[in-house]
Amino acid sequence: MSTQFKVNPQPTFVDWSTGDLSGEGIEESVKTLGQLAGLFKDEAAWRSMDPVTEVYRVRFWRPVPEGTSGGLFWGATILQPGRVGDEYFMTHGHFHAIRDRAEYYATVKGTGAMLFMGEEEHTWSQTMKPGTVHYIPGKVAHRVVNTGHEPLVILASWHSDAGHDYASIRTKGFGKRMVVREGEPCLV
Ligand code: NI
Repeated sequence: MSTQFKVNPQPTFVDWSTGDLSGEGIEESVKTLGQLAGLFKDEAAWRSMDPVTEVYRVRFWRPVPEGTSGGLFWGATILQPGRVGDEYFMTHGHFHAIRDRAEYYATVKGTGAMLFMGEEEHTWSQTMKPGTVHYIPGKVAHRVVNTGHEPLVILASWHSDAGHDYASIRTKGFGKRMVVREGEPCLV
């Protein structure tokens, strides 16, 4: 759509109480359990669940074309609560295709964990709760985990030329997983 990219784009709109994003040119992508094959450790538990179950959806605004140098995107992710076996629902996770591109995530609603992994698979986490703002340095893979009982809503802003490298995560995963142990989230 040629009218989508403008030198001076109109503002988009965030409902700060819900994280909902609306406005001209907002796009949406939904990920179901069936589309996240191989992501969760307990494959038998994954197989026993309905593949059309929604895990997360991203609504995003690209005021400039994907790949533009120097531009910024904005998005809202809604990650549903749930588990596959003892492992919490999570996003796929990725490095950026241009590795040194950083990103911001900010929590609007819910509770969760932000997982980070360096290129040497060193993995660490930060607690997410309403108001937390997470800086994701360049060269660090990132994933969001919902450790609560309600949808986890986050806002993000990233470089328009960052791109996504999902393949590294699909083949090797993160160095650690967020699972429930005696009712509490635990990074193992
Ligand atoms: Ni990213």
